Amino acid sequence: TDAHTAGPFIAAIDQGTTSSRCIVFDTDGRIVSVDQREHEQIFPKPGWVEHDAKEIWANVESVVAGAITKAGITAADVKAIGITNQRETTLLWDKNTGEPVHNAIVWQDTRTDALCKELGRNVGQDRFRRETGLPLASYFSGPKVRWLLDNVEGLRERAERGDILFGTMDSWVIWNLTGGVDGGVHVTDVTNASRTMLMNLHEMAWDERILHSMDIPAAVLPEIRSSAEVYGHAKEGVLAGVPVASALGDQQAALFGQTCFAEGEAKSTYGTGTFMLMNTGDKPVNSYNGLLTTVGYRIGDQKPVYALEGSIAVTGSLVQWMRDQMGLINSAAEIETLASSVEDNGGAYFVPAFSGLFAPYWRSDARGVIAGLTRYVTKAHIARAVLEATAWQTREITDAMTKDSGVELTALKVDGGMTSNNLLMQTLSDFLDAPVVRPMVAETTCLGAAYAAGLAVGYWPDTDALRANWRRAAEWTPRMPADQRDREYKSWLKAVERTMGWVE
Ligand code: G3P
Repeated sequence: TDAHTAGPFIAAIDQGTTSSRCIVFDTDGRIVSVDQREHEQIFPKPGWVEHDAKEIWANVESVVAGAITKAGITAADVKAIGITNQRETTLLWDKNTGEPVHNAIVWQDTRTDALCKELGRNVGQDRFRRETGLPLASYFSGPKVRWLLDNVEGLRERAERGDILFGTMDSWVIWNLTGGVDGGVHVTDVTNASRTMLMNLHEMAWDERILHSMDIPAAVLPEIRSSAEVYGHAKEGVLAGVPVASALGDQQAALFGQTCFAEGEAKSTYGTGTFMLMNTGDKPVNSYNGLLTTVGYRIGDQKPVYALEGSIAVTGSLVQWMRDQMGLINSAAEIETLASSVEDNGGAYFVPAFSGLFAPYWRSDARGVIAGLTRYVTKAHIARAVLEATAWQTREITDAMTKDSGVELTALKVDGGMTSNNLLMQTLSDFLDAPVVRPMVAETTCLGAAYAAGLAVGYWPDTDALRANWRRAAEWTPRMPADQRDREYKSWLKAVERTMGWVE
């Protein structure tokens, strides 16, 4: 019926922190069908977060089948499959049985705190930063791999024997999709590899000295490939025979989906966490203000494109926490109604340092606080403080971006689930003192993975064709008086200070 039902199509799989989804796109980059499934969040101890990788793979298979059925198409109509994923989340599995040796350790998990401190003392914080672009923090995969090798009985011997494979979720999905124990390919892409803390950012290869200092055997590592090329073909299931042709970490995929192909272009994605990435062209830019240097994408054998990233651990997941752990709201959408029922935050500030503080502080010893409480404060004020936390954290990142790049923010391209919250988007524009712009397709993560896969198989000719698909859907402009913004920003920064040093 619709114009977009004429194929062929591209299918994108997004294996995210809270759910897995599959979206089918047409040549205009429009959504044909979506299927999505949440998986369990496992919290074994304070600060620990795990996922069951078998549950995740079963969900991926089910959403792929769901999206293909909803679109009313078959494998013959699908030109390529693109993969995108939550980054850093670390899995080790047995290559002979396909069984994970432990739950996946999620990026938010802080169990490697002490290990990171110890590594910092032994080899120095800066050595890792120069080579990997990353500060030494529990966020990244390398220390998580080391923790598993040290804590799962007998694992190190099996790993050294070559029986164990390491992967972030891209590797796990691609290995299973291309056959698993029966010939699955063990690969990762440059963007995901750049988050392990094990890849040399300048050489795009595993760094032997870092592997040595972290005591990780090279035998477990996947092969590093570009973000857009055919890695293999789906072996079974509804997409059997279709090329698997892209992989990008979800934040890099969103950068691609927002068509930030020129130096200086940036986007911010509001999911469980929030991640702002700015394209810095073909050179890695060192940050002096707490940002990460990371790979933006690499198309086939073209030069890699780098990015500066501001990572915020907790934004959407704070709303989930309000719903699931506190029971203050029944649905995530309700936060907007509740927060809108009051004029302001009533003096309350909420700094959700649940996983320590990420950019620009990188303090694993921080834990969350609600500051400024008086008897006057209601749950509506707290709801407001929850939304403001996302906006203030973004402001701290844009300040750092401006300092590192020398480029003033003229407008911010946003996407992700939380951007449907109008109060949040207005608050964001107020706090940044800049326009906030959302594109027509807010599912930019899947779109970016689809774009990269489509480029790899010639479904789209070049990045210019992708740019032509970008359309503005909504824009918010600042309304807040400057003196009020400055006053409240100071209070926010005071509350941030209170979080630090909580954990010895
Ligand atoms: O670095 C973590 C990031 O990739 C997770 O993204 O959207 O699953 O919260 P998201």
